[in-house]
Amino acid sequence: MTKIALVTGGSRGLGRNTALHIARRGGDVVITYHSRSDAADAVVAEIAALGHKAIALRLDTSDVGSFAGFTDRLREGLQTTWKRDSFDHLVNNAGHGDCAPIAETTEAQFDALVNVHFKGVFFLTQALLPLITDGGRIVNLSSGLTRVSAPGWGAYAAVKGAVEVLTLYMAKELGARGIAVNTVAPGAVETDFFGGAVRDTPDFNAFFAGITALGRVGLPDDIGPMIASLLSEDNRWVNAQRIEVSGGQGI
Ligand SMILES: NC(=O)c1ccc[n+]([C@@H]2O[C@H](COP(=O)([O-])OP(=O)(O)OC[C@H]3O[C@@H](n4cnc5c(N)ncnc54)[C@H](OP(=O)(O)O)[C@@H]3O)[C@@H](O)[C@H]2O)c1
Repeated sequence: MTKIALVTGGSRGLGRNTALHIARRGGDVVITYHSRSDAADAVVAEIAALGHKAIALRLDTSDVGSFAGFTDRLREGLQTTWKRDSFDHLVNNAGHGDCAPIAETTEAQFDALVNVHFKGVFFLTQALLPLITDGGRIVNLSSGLTRVSAPGWGAYAAVKGAVEVLTLYMAKELGARGIAVNTVAPGAVETDFFGGAVRDTPDFNAFFAGITALGRVGLPDDIGPMIASLLSEDNRWVNAQRIEVSGGQGI
């Protein structure tokens, strides 16, 4: 049976690229978007052109109160499109970047990062557990910034660090259902993240390229295929790992 993956934040950047590469490897995809329904529709059309099924659902991963309603809409979508009550792979990818020295970080900035990157991942996964098939997979997106420090990214990196710990505990608790859970930690990648800073700000790009063994920053195509591969049968025994995909950033 064709596997179905749910990729949060699949409308742009790494989530979009991951969704497309899952389809290229033969999977179907549910993507979520927050505000850019146009971008989400374009991804669904691209996946259809690859001969696979996809649907797009709106989701704000910072809004835990909306997760029950989202789960209902997901059930409807799975039933209508696939005649299924479950899906196989969850990629917790959605998120935004924010940068401020610890001395200047506001409570609102801090809360937004916690809500999207940690609390949202925790409770969305909890809400979706009954819909994930036994033997399924979960991938949580972290960041290279949990291993090397960069001034200004303290709050962001700390919540990503929390997700890495959460991954370990998810893997332990969900192992009984045969569900493998891993963290993928990209280095700096050229996407819309943080206003497109890595892609559009030459100094920022050069800084990260300069601390990367392979001599450049990442592109979405450096990340999506890796996540799609991690979800494949080839990698079924990889569990509870933090896998950095950064070209050797900060080594
Ligand atoms: N790019 C990097 O350098 C980098 C490095 C390491 C880790 N990461 C991590 O990789 C993940 C994806 O980043 P990206 O570079 O692909 O960013 P991006 O290009 O800015 O895309 C972000 C995606 O997340 C969605 N999103 C943002 N806030 C959301 C919210 N509150 N609720 C639901 N969806 C939301 C967006 O939806 P809309 O399109 O509807 O706005 C979009 O699909 C993030 O977790 C990020 O922390 C990125």
